[in-house]
Amino acid sequence: MTEAVFAGSAEGASPEEAGLRYEVDGEIATITLDRPDKRNAQTFATWSALARIGDSLPQQVRVVVVRGEGPSFSAGIDLRMFTPEGVPGQGSFASSATLGDSAFEQRIAQAQRGFLWLRRPDIVSIAAVQGHAIGAGFQLALACDLRVLADDAKLCMKEPALGLVPDLTGTKPLVDIVGLPRALEICLTARIVGAEEAARLGLAELVVAPDDLAGAVRDLAAALLAVNRDAATATKRLLQGAVGRTLEEQTAAERHEQVARVKALFAGS
Ligand code: ACO
Repeated sequence: MTEAVFAGSAEGASPEEAGLRYEVDGEIATITLDRPDKRNAQTFATWSALARIGDSLPQQVRVVVVRGEGPSFSAGIDLRMFTPEGVPGQGSFASSATLGDSAFEQRIAQAQRGFLWLRRPDIVSIAAVQGHAIGAGFQLALACDLRVLADDAKLCMKEPALGLVPDLTGTKPLVDIVGLPRALEICLTARIVGAEEAARLGLAELVVAPDDLAGAVRDLAAALLAVNRDAATATKRLLQGAVGRTLEEQTAAERHEQVARVKALFAGS
């Protein structure tokens, strides 16, 4: 049965301002950016709502799909943030600039919370990306573990071209995936990376025709769900830690996880 839950936003913004749809169907949660008329532009309310979804994710959920309604995954931060008026009830960059440094950093940390939980070891997150994924849109796709792209996908780290840095958790996965020189080139030129190049760079696990996007994501989710849950969680934890560990440390981590797995599977049998 599909349980439709509308994720309300934090900080007093209305659910409509959050612009999200959230559905849980058994072990799969689907988050849809749902302001297609504004190309799913994101606001602080969007990020607060994302964080709240992460906080209250039902225990049975193992796969989280993040998708966008309409022609674009997301055109990034709502451009009203750059105007003096800002986004109603959520301020603007001009109003944020009047905050003290630590209060402003705290506000960014709150926004980042909406993205960080998508990497939790107990879930696998999949971004389903069609059309534009610009700025915060690209970073939301990068916050997910896996990316399935429609062949019309266009990724762009626009922030530097607007005088900003990418600060929604996207810089680390970008460097981890494509390496420092390519990440520099992509960010500092703010150019569009098409789906075919994205696949070549490792930014997409799969590229499909736009009409096949939903089906491809469903198939991937089904394949992920076919694996033992605890083994999947332990393996993701192991893989996530691998980059920061020496071979010696990583093999010790493998031993540690395997002892727990074998005991869970065979102790007492
Ligand atoms: N914020 C607010 N509204 C937006 C945004 C945005 N980021 N992007 C698009 N919209 C609105 C447009 O203003 C337009 O609204 P209207 O119909 O009321 O005039 C509607 O969405 C459709 O936009 P179009 O430009 O007509 O759509 P199109 O499909 O031709 O182009 C594209 C899509 C390429 C994404 C274009 O809208 C665009 O360049 N948007 C801005 C991208 C951007 O610079 N984002 C900020 C990145 S930096 C960051 O995220 C931190």
